[in-house]
Amino acid sequence: MYTVPKLDDYSPATLDRAISQLESALESERREVQTEDDWKAFRDRWLARKNGILTQLNELWLKGAPPESKKEIGKRINASRPLIENRVESQLNWLRAAVHEIVGSPIGLPIDISLPGIHRPIGVKHPVLRVMDEIVAVFKAMGYSIGEGPEVETDYYNFESLNFPPNHPARDTQDTLFIAAQEQKPARDRLLLRTHTSPVQIRVMELQPPPVRIIIPGKVHRNDPLDATHSPVFHQVEGLAVDTNITFCDLKGTLDHAMKALFGSSVKTRFYPSFFPFTEPSADMQVSCIFCGGKGCRKCKFSGWIELLGCGMVDPNVFEFVKHNGYDSSKVSGFAFGMGVERIAILKYEVEEIQLFYEGDVRFLEQFA
Ligand code: DAH
Repeated sequence: MYTVPKLDDYSPATLDRAISQLESALESERREVQTEDDWKAFRDRWLARKNGILTQLNELWLKGAPPESKKEIGKRINASRPLIENRVESQLNWLRAAVHEIVGSPIGLPIDISLPGIHRPIGVKHPVLRVMDEIVAVFKAMGYSIGEGPEVETDYYNFESLNFPPNHPARDTQDTLFIAAQEQKPARDRLLLRTHTSPVQIRVMELQPPPVRIIIPGKVHRNDPLDATHSPVFHQVEGLAVDTNITFCDLKGTLDHAMKALFGSSVKTRFYPSFFPFTEPSADMQVSCIFCGGKGCRKCKFSGWIELLGCGMVDPNVFEFVKHNGYDSSKVSGFAFGMGVERIAILKYEVEEIQLFYEGDVRFLEQFA
């Protein structure tokens, strides 16, 4: 181990040699430091006020030197001081970083490098996202593009342009969360959390003249209390096709194909009259019960059918709002549909409660791995 040598003379060559010995000793001792205790000993050996190496340099080299050499030696020792201090400090930082990397805990804990590593299971797609992607993929394969829109929406896009005039009772079917303190704004500019993905229909038509075929996945919000099948935040997938000569037959054929792709080829569909302000005629689409095959069971309330989505032919009043972009209802027609992703996921995976999707319980989620 290095000890501070006595100097035979004070020539620059001797000093150079002595300093370089000192530096290489510092370097090799630094490399030996593996634990915090090692580091404390290292620090004291080099920097302790009482008998550290730096102090010894002063004692052995400076004090014994003849007056004419003192200045030069003092300079050399002072030049070595920051190097020593810096090495000692940076060694601790290095040690802390290295320990942190290995065991993920701050220094101080003993490291047992023979312990097995931490096993981090690979994540999988959340079931809601998985079903959403599956639905989107079915329509992508039919040539649809994918569209998206904002979750914070204006009253205009969420309601007015979809033919829900202000104060129209159809608004009551979607209990809406409004952003506070907007009373000064005109009603159509007020912000809300979108209650459905349908506003993106208008946004797409504003940007793109017909023809359009678009599939729109997204998150929506309603002021609905949480129960086994409802959540105030949920997901929808919206579809829109506009072109010349689009008929209700196209709507039926498209959705029938999509349901067979999602639930299997034996599934049947039927269309039941309904009402949405932005479609005319409107329908609820039902699928033959995927549990009993249509015979009737508890899940389908013994009807043999399960209601799955809303759809219809785009109302001419909706086209009025985007007429300037080529949507003239005497020339083009279209169909639209919207479905709840959680609802489909609940059916597909026989999930008992919608909350399970949001709780993040690994015991539930790992079943989808
Ligand atoms: N936006 C409707 C809802 O959330 C669902 C819907 C019905 C969407 C009919 C459509 C449609 O595009 O044509 O209840």
